[in-house]
Amino acid sequence: MNLMQSIRERAKKAKRTIVLPESLEDRTLRAADIVLQEGLADIVLLGSPDEIISKAHKLGLKNIEKATLINPLNSDKRSAYIDKMLEIRKSKGLDHDSAEQLLNDPLYFAVMMIKNGDAHGEVAGADNATGDVLRPAFQFIKTQPGISVVSGAFIMILPDQHFGDDGIMVFADCAVHPDPDASQLAEIAMATAQTARDIAGIEPRLAMLSFSTKGSAKHPMVDKVVEATRIVQQQEPGLLIDGELQADAALVPEVGLKKSPGSPVAGKANVLVFPSLESGNIAYKLVQRLAGAEAVGPVLQGMAAPVNDLSRGCSVEDIVNMVAITANQAK
Ligand code: ACO
Repeated sequence: MNLMQSIRERAKKAKRTIVLPESLEDRTLRAADIVLQEGLADIVLLGSPDEIISKAHKLGLKNIEKATLINPLNSDKRSAYIDKMLEIRKSKGLDHDSAEQLLNDPLYFAVMMIKNGDAHGEVAGADNATGDVLRPAFQFIKTQPGISVVSGAFIMILPDQHFGDDGIMVFADCAVHPDPDASQLAEIAMATAQTARDIAGIEPRLAMLSFSTKGSAKHPMVDKVVEATRIVQQQEPGLLIDGELQADAALVPEVGLKKSPGSPVAGKANVLVFPSLESGNIAYKLVQRLAGAEAVGPVLQGMAAPVNDLSRGCSVEDIVNMVAITANQAK
């Protein structure tokens, strides 16, 4: 069974409820139909039930009737959600009228469903930009205890199975936080280790990447990675981690042995933690295009409940997979 199949099998067993706010978007509705047909999760679709049903008929979808359809504009949960929104953001100046207004937006309604325990997770982004999907989640779902930044990991499935664990690696942050400081980078590393275990199904060996290996270069950017590594080692002493390492020292056994002898990670890393979003985003796209890797994600990590953002160029299959991943992340 390949990785995505096993993620789907785990989703079936988890029986989570995932909310899809972009219910009138064709690919999303087709994906919901497949998810319901395969029993990967229970689905909530937000919008006018009449419009959703009529669109599903037009597309010839047979399983949408198994979804729960909720219209954010007249849901009987509105007043409970507005109370919760005010409780969370009154100190940030949110008033009743603005909360009413925000709740008309399915992206806000979806996060309030999760916050209220009416859904386990959300997938959106086929129709909305990253910031518009993430902002409501940042504001109302917030981060897990002990984590202050959300980040985005990619599960990289490489054709060359010499790397990682039989070709499976995890890269982060490739999607969210542009310029983490040392303690944020340490959080990103620990969250990525959790994603490696929970979603990729591998026991993590983390390389904290830099342009320097073990003091070969001196620069504040290197110091940041060294400090982040130290923080992780202090907070999770059992985790296999090494840094700062260059990519070749992290991946190639002979180079790792030479540049970081005795390291539990050098030459055999299966998780790469990048020093900035710039390097992480560029790296995953290069590996995807030049090495022919499959890039599954971004899997958002560090949020108190899972919300995942799709690329607007996503396929129906991508959405189905992201629903399965989100179901796996939900606690
Ligand atoms: N983790 C947790 N909370 C965050 C984060 C984060 N990484 N970033 C912002 N927040 C919180 C802020 O603390 C703030 O909370 P508050 O209102 O309670 O004080 C709230 O979110 C809004 O903060 P802003 O700084 O106004 O954030 P903004 O909404 O402008 O930006 C965004 C957030 C959109 C995610 C921004 O960081 C961004 O554009 N990142 C890059 C995304 C991107 O383009 N990625 C590459 C493409 S994706 C790909 O290729 C797969």
